[in-house]
Amino acid sequence: MAARPIVRFPDPQLRQRSAELDGVDDSVRQLVAEMAETMVEAEGAGLAAIQVAVPLRLFLIDGQVAGGPEGAPPKVFINPEILEISAEAQTGDEGCLSFPDVFVPVKRGLRAKVRAIDLDGNSFEAEGEGLYARALQHETDHLNGRLLIDQVGPVKREIIKRKLRKDAEAERQEAAEREPARRARSAG
Ligand code: NI
Repeated sequence: MAARPIVRFPDPQLRQRSAELDGVDDSVRQLVAEMAETMVEAEGAGLAAIQVAVPLRLFLIDGQVAGGPEGAPPKVFINPEILEISAEAQTGDEGCLSFPDVFVPVKRGLRAKVRAIDLDGNSFEAEGEGLYARALQHETDHLNGRLLIDQVGPVKREIIKRKLRKDAEAERQEAAEREPARRARSAG
């Protein structure tokens, strides 16, 4: 089992609408296990399959965020459907593993109710409040190609894009600087 690379904005993959799963088989269980590892390693509160380049309607939410005890395994949502979002709202900083180090205030419903299928193929309903409700709404957005950056105004959007471009460029430069050193070592 291994963590997978996370697809980052502005990769166009993140804009597609993910497809429903036909059912739960070993390949889905394997994908979930790898997503769980990816999410834990990246310290995310949630992760949608499209964020590891798999366009299927599936996401995980951190077990504790989903109301479980400390150390609870991530909660799995397959083919999730939002049943209800409360009119009562919350505004709080929101992040996304596809937007490293970006946190922006986003208004969401305070409570959300979702119906989904679990890893055993059973239908269940879950209702979350606060951070859990925020995560349910954020991850469902991913399945429809909707992203954190769509939740902010045009000025903030430009600032985020510029920051991510700069970070990506710095990363590329760092990698390029490491490369000759590695070559030199292997040559020696
Ligand atoms: Ni996200």
